[in-house]
Amino acid sequence: MLSVLLAGCMGALAVLLVVVWRVRTDGTWALWWHDNYLERLRDFTSGKSRPMRILQYVQRTAVQGDANSVISAVDSYCANVEWAMNVGDMKGEILDAVVLDVRPRWVLELGTYCGYSTMRIARFLPPGARLVTLEMNHHYAQVAKQILGHAGVDAQLSPSPSSVPQSCTQGEEPVGGATHSSQRRWRLQEALIYTTLHCLQLPLQLFSRTPQNPLAASTPKPPEETAGRQQTKRSSTCKVDLLVGTSSALIPQLKKKFDLDKFDLVFIDHWKTSYLPDTKLLEECGLLASGTVLLADNVTCPGAPDYLQYVRNSPRYKSLYFPSQLEYLQVEDGMEKSIFLG
Ligand SMILES: C[S@@+](CC[C@H](N)C(=O)[O-])C[C@H]1O[C@@H](n2cnc3c(N)ncnc32)[C@H](O)[C@@H]1O
Repeated sequence: MLSVLLAGCMGALAVLLVVVWRVRTDGTWALWWHDNYLERLRDFTSGKSRPMRILQYVQRTAVQGDANSVISAVDSYCANVEWAMNVGDMKGEILDAVVLDVRPRWVLELGTYCGYSTMRIARFLPPGARLVTLEMNHHYAQVAKQILGHAGVDAQLSPSPSSVPQSCTQGEEPVGGATHSSQRRWRLQEALIYTTLHCLQLPLQLFSRTPQNPLAASTPKPPEETAGRQQTKRSSTCKVDLLVGTSSALIPQLKKKFDLDKFDLVFIDHWKTSYLPDTKLLEECGLLASGTVLLADNVTCPGAPDYLQYVRNSPRYKSLYFPSQLEYLQVEDGMEKSIFLG
């Protein structure tokens, strides 16, 4: 009897070790663990969404009006407390370098989330530049506006909050018009599932704590202390428009809405299956011109193979890969910089 119990314990430990190892080394497992399981668990136990938890941490720890301080706070929270899908400190440095190199007047960002990359871009834009960022999730957009506000970046949210649903934690409409009682039943089932999983995840979390990014110490530091202040000041002079809606619906409106000739830089960081159709839509809508730079995140993990195949083989683009790591994890990822040739 004792030997059966011992064998069972050894088997469970072996499974646990395999899961820990996969979560630490495999992008798909890591994303499932951090972006699905742990996030849902924390949402359930805290009663708040992850963006809300990030916002509260920023409000508690970051210096108001200092974009660099807010960026560091988000990085510190996501590296040490809970993972989140910001571009992160490592790939953020690639983004910074591209923004500084292009010196764009018009920037489009696909996928705002909490406004982390928006802040990174905004602080390096010259006065008079415009940054348009698109986010389909109303709740995320509202949190982003507040985080950006804390960083001293004034983002114009449209449609305005009064016309935006206030209730969502994940920003999705209730599926199929679910009734209150069926929602309550689901909450109860969720409570049971998550209480059980919570007991199981404690030892696992102990082993699989989000590893400290080796580059975390070199996170968004300005070249000099005083330069940081200038950058923060500069960030408030560029205009940020945060548009709530899907990229496929908003992109065709941009030219007219902003009386726009073309974007100089497009940062592509929304759902990976939309990279290619939205790039083609930007082309069709005449929003790209010779010299426009596209920078696409996560082209390795989770990956956007159809997009890569397109920009690397089309005669209309000159494309270059920047290897890096998935935000806040030691898992391979990279960014693709593609120059539109016309
Ligand atoms: C990876 S996150 C963006 C992270 C952000 N760029 C950063 O680095 O801080 C992707 C975001 O894109 C949004 N999104 C996904 N597909 C979208 C679409 N088709 N239109 C607008 N937003 C979209 C999601 O809601 C999510 O907030």
